[in-house]
This record gives sequence, structure tokens and C-alpha cells, in this order.
Amino acid sequence: MEKEEKEKGKGGRRKKMRFAIGGSKMKLLFITSNEHKVREIRDLALKMNANIEIEHLRVAYPEIQHEDIEFVAESSAKFIRKEGLVGEEEPFFIEDSGLFIHALNGFPGAFSSYVFKKIGNEGILKLLRGVEDRRALFKSVVAFSPKGFVVKTFVGVVEGRIASEIRGSAGFGFDPIFEFGGRTFAEMSVAEKNAVSHRGRAFRKFLNFILSSASMREVD
Ligand code: IMP
Repeated sequence: MEKEEKEKGKGGRRKKMRFAIGGSKMKLLFITSNEHKVREIRDLALKMNANIEIEHLRVAYPEIQHEDIEFVAESSAKFIRKEGLVGEEEPFFIEDSGLFIHALNGFPGAFSSYVFKKIGNEGILKLLRGVEDRRALFKSVVAFSPKGFVVKTFVGVVEGRIASEIRGSAGFGFDPIFEFGGRTFAEMSVAEKNAVSHRGRAFRKFLNFILSSASMREVD
């Protein structure tokens, strides 16, 4: 059973891509502009022996501003489909995450990307200067659209704390200030981070769903 070749249609739009499980690898399309996220899920799929190949597509899409990241992820997936950025029946997924700091009433949450761009890790540490309660959590939402406007979400959460200083050089974003079990995510390898992270948890749920889903065993 083989996946048919995907082709680009007019205006760069992608035509339907078919895939199947069998002897050959199943391909899953991940739409993101973040290479680190691609690396994390590829590593996870490999560790799970999932026989899944993650295909990366970088297309820009606007992200709505809303407090609920599950709603944001679902809306983005529908937008991608509506705008024909992928074929009508081409399965794809996206992922959205946010950092929720307890002492700041969950800020920056769904606005993490904007806040990171504006004030970065230094800015967060400044906001928390002298604050004893360092509790924070990361939340990740994978929004998977098998076809049409159907969207299924998978959520992963990790509870940790905001470190008192920037530590580590791996990873991206808030990794150097998010501490779990005494180390920041930036002090962990991809596999170590995946084992405990919000995204690792959401991705595992998603990949397990894919592997066990009979509906995905589709060949035309
Ligand atoms: P988004 O999911 O790419 O919108 O992420 C929102 C913000 O959180 C961005 O600034 C990311 O850099 C940051 N972020 C998302 N996931 C992680 C992570 O696993 N570690 C550190 N920062 C992250």
C-alpha cells in the first residue's frame, strides 16, 4: 500500500494526498514554522517505533487572539482548510502552546508568542523578580484535521516552575527558564524534554490515536 505522490496545484495549493499504513511508512503533514517542534515530534515518532514519517510544510496563516489555545488551534486548522492551503482530503496537523504563570494569573497563556517576542525570557524573569511563587505550566494542543472541517484536538500539560535565571542552550522559546525536576528544558536533550513536556504528552496522545485509528487505514 503506497501513498500517492502529492502535487502542488494552481497557486501553490496542494492536491489531495492519500496515505496508508502497511509495509511502507505512514506520512503525516505537520504545518508549522517552528523547526524545533518538527524535531521534537520526529524524535518522538522514532522513539515510539511508530513507522510514521512527519512531513513538514511551512505555510503562513494568521493566528486569532483568544484566551483558549484549544479554540485557537482548532480555528487555525479550519482556516488552513478553508483557504485551501492543503487539499480538501489531505490530513494535516498543527500545534499551539502557551506558558501559564501562576503568580501572573496564567499570563502570558495564549499570548505567549507575542509576549516572548516583546520581552523574551529576560522580561519574564524581571516580572517575577522577588516573587516566591514560581509555579508555571506549559500547555500544548495538537489540532488534527483528517479531512474537510473535522478537527480533533489532543492536549498535553506539564507543571514546572520558572527558574531564577536563564540556564541551558538547547531548545527554543521559554526553554531556558522553564524548570522541571531541577533542570530547565534547555538543559535537556530532545528525548529528555519529550519524555516530560507538554508537547511530548500531546504528541504521544496524537500518535497513539493515529496508530489505533482504523479510519486512517484508508486506501482509495
Ligand atoms: P506557539 O505554540 O508557537 O504559538 O508558542 C507560543 C510561544 O511559546 C512561543 O514564543 C514559543 O517560543 C513558546 N513555546 C512554545 N512551546 C515551547 C516549548 O516547548 N518550550 C519553550 N517555549 C515554547
